[in-house]
Amino acid sequence: MRNVLFVNQNMGFSAFCVLTLSYILLVSISLATPNSSVHENFLNCFYFKTNLSQYPNSQVLFTKNSSSYSSVLQSAAQNLRFSTASTPKPQLIIKPIHEYHIQAAIVCSKKHGLQLRVRSGGHDYEGLSYVSDVPFIVLDLANLRSIRIDIEDESAWVESGATMGELYYRIAEKSKVYGFPAGTCHTVGVGGHFTGGGFGTIFRKYGLAADNVIDARIIDVNGRILDRRSMGEDLFWAIRGGGGESFGVILSWKIKLVPVPSIVTIFNVQKSLEQGATKLLYKWQTIADKFPEDLFLHAIIGVVDASQNANKTIVVSFDALFLGGVEELLPLINQSFPELGLNHGDCTEMSWIKSVLYFASFSIQESPDVLLNRTQSSVSFFKSKSDYVKEPIPGSGLQELWKILLEDEAGYMIFTPYGAKMSAISDSETPFPHRSGNIYKIQYSVSWGTDKETKKHISWIRKLYTYMKPYVSKSPRAAYINYRDLDLGRNKIGNTSYAQASVWGLKYFKNNFKRLSHVKTKTDPSNFFRNEQSIPLFSLWEKKQGN
Ligand code: FDA
Repeated sequence: MRNVLFVNQNMGFSAFCVLTLSYILLVSISLATPNSSVHENFLNCFYFKTNLSQYPNSQVLFTKNSSSYSSVLQSAAQNLRFSTASTPKPQLIIKPIHEYHIQAAIVCSKKHGLQLRVRSGGHDYEGLSYVSDVPFIVLDLANLRSIRIDIEDESAWVESGATMGELYYRIAEKSKVYGFPAGTCHTVGVGGHFTGGGFGTIFRKYGLAADNVIDARIIDVNGRILDRRSMGEDLFWAIRGGGGESFGVILSWKIKLVPVPSIVTIFNVQKSLEQGATKLLYKWQTIADKFPEDLFLHAIIGVVDASQNANKTIVVSFDALFLGGVEELLPLINQSFPELGLNHGDCTEMSWIKSVLYFASFSIQESPDVLLNRTQSSVSFFKSKSDYVKEPIPGSGLQELWKILLEDEAGYMIFTPYGAKMSAISDSETPFPHRSGNIYKIQYSVSWGTDKETKKHISWIRKLYTYMKPYVSKSPRAAYINYRDLDLGRNKIGNTSYAQASVWGLKYFKNNFKRLSHVKTKTDPSNFFRNEQSIPLFSLWEKKQGN
């Protein structure tokens, strides 16, 4: 049974709430017969609040019976590990086209005991935006992706459902000398990315995406829309690196655009073990965080020539972006890193937006229009983990590391240099605590093609992570929240205490974890917004223990 209430679709949610308040109890009681499922109750509530039943083809709500349910679910799912037949599926998918659809989804799922998983770009490494072990709904924000660039004000408002590619494209459309310091993959969603930090090729100069957020709009657990002023500085602090999924649904972000030169330079130099890669990488560890802020030089390490076992070797790919021309870059590298043997022919000058194409793995001959494509050309099964390095790994440690890497040719590592602006920002400025003292971050990854290989690759990456323990940060062994890793620990279904969650929470947030927990307790005291690694409530008992 569907309830129809005539409201103007453009009417604001609060006005709509007032108008219908007196009906809500009456109607929901009459619909909630003992036999009706949670699912039906939710639907009735949602229809009632949004008047959606008048618009059957609105493409907002997808039940398991909808012909496009599976394609919508898969549209943004990035990790095939969470798209198998046995993966739990949402009862419903909601793709809001108005903010009041989100308000209704929050209020109705809270009322009817369904968990809400919020998805912007669907790149969560552990699929937490579209998978849950308890009955749940996916709120997919892909339709809410408008971007307003204001070059005069050097700012932009961007909705959470936009992708990084769309944001970069829209900035470049307006100006060739502005950019934004965020991630390299064009299909990553703004929503999850900004709220977990977000780094990219110009973060050594400008910090993380979250460091450059100046306002935001969020819908809280009561369905209220708040901006920076009305949410207060504590919540505004928490959502810039603490993971929005614990606090509400972030609608949009106001960001500060940053200047980029009209000409930037990229280079890529690859060396195998036989060509001295170990020594080069050792040297890189001693200088990568000390380069000027205009230079980003990361190292991607993988196995090549996997088809011919006898020739399998490790290759280190040194990949760089320099905010300036080649004539300035060459002396800089040849003075500090002459061993690399960089020459003019290795370097290419281009506009900043072309460098975005390059780091997103497109040919720089392509039109920037490809950045508007929200679909990854191919998706795979994958597992990733992260670490922070404070002292260079000795040559002997690297030699052993190569042996483990050679055991799985589908595995690779990315060493991302820190320093410069990242060291100038205090550990507590935002929840993201990995600042001064880190030479670089490691991402370990392995990807594969079929479910039957999953066990083998996951046990390999865990072995690699165990091996690395002596060489990486300690107490806690830190990790990057945007490289979500459930091996670090997970909340129990129901409520997890602060102490239990500290096992994983301190790794992501260090000393900021407690403040996050206090903000969570104040903002969402019923712990409605939760997942396997959401911020726990800070209980009275813990306060008494002096935590
Ligand atoms: P998704 O939609 O899966 O959301 C991730 C988490 O945020 C989920 O818990 C979700 O519920 C929550 N969330 C999403 N939108 C929300 C909203 N509006 N309000 C509240 N909560 C919300 N990182 C990086 O720093 N630099 C990089 O270059 C890259 N590159 C990269 C490439 C590829 C191929 C992948 C798969 C991932 C990356 N990442 C990355 C990691 C990426 O930043 C991280 O996975 C982000 O959380 C992805 O954000 P999405 O919105 O796409 O994910």
